[in-house]
Amino acid sequence: MQTCYNRCSDYFLLQDGAAPTLDDARELFSDVPPEKSAHNQAVLGWKGPGGLYAIAAILRDYPRDGTWYLGFMIVDAAQRGRGVGRSIYSTVESWAAARGATEIRLAVLEANEAAERFWRSLGFIEYRRVGPDTFKMRSHRRIELSRRLSGPVGPKLRFWPC
Ligand SMILES: CC(C)(COP(=O)(O)OP(=O)(O)OC[C@H]1O[C@@H](n2cnc3c(N)ncnc32)[C@H](O)[C@@H]1OP(=O)(O)O)[C@@H](O)C(=O)NCCC(=O)NCCS
Repeated sequence: MQTCYNRCSDYFLLQDGAAPTLDDARELFSDVPPEKSAHNQAVLGWKGPGGLYAIAAILRDYPRDGTWYLGFMIVDAAQRGRGVGRSIYSTVESWAAARGATEIRLAVLEANEAAERFWRSLGFIEYRRVGPDTFKMRSHRRIELSRRLSGPVGPKLRFWPC
């Protein structure tokens, strides 16, 4: 897992102004809002011949029942731009929907314009802006994005290869 984090150090440099540490990887499993337990969060990994190439973490029923919060999703920098992110998001969404999710919410750093474009291309819309908050050596405002699952599924989602 630490190797995957290291291969995604561009993201941590953007967010924190520092390279990822082993503690960052460990904290993914325990870093949930105070009113939730780590048992409410699923951490999912995708592994290929070269090891772990994508990680996602999703918290059920937060901040309200039916809304699942995608707190983290990252694809190995060498694997990006080939549909991996789209494909794993599809898997996560289907997995959550089968367990009662009716909305997916997430927060993207305002500074992470590429990821904002990625999420908007998947049908996410802005819910609100929050912050600024401190991330190690950096401070960021974040855009909370939301995608309702009860409505019609967009064409990009419907025709994903699995
Ligand atoms: C954001 C991220 C998960 C996307 O994964 P990915 O595998 O690169 O994305 P995909 O190849 O599946 O791209 C899916 C769509 O988004 C678009 N997209 C992806 N990255 C993009 C970028 N940098 N700029 C513009 N569009 C982008 C693609 O063009 C594609 O659209 P298309 O099918 O119409 O061509 C990945 O870039 C990543 O891990 N980034 C660093 C960590 C991060 O920012 N995580 C999100 C935190 S909120």
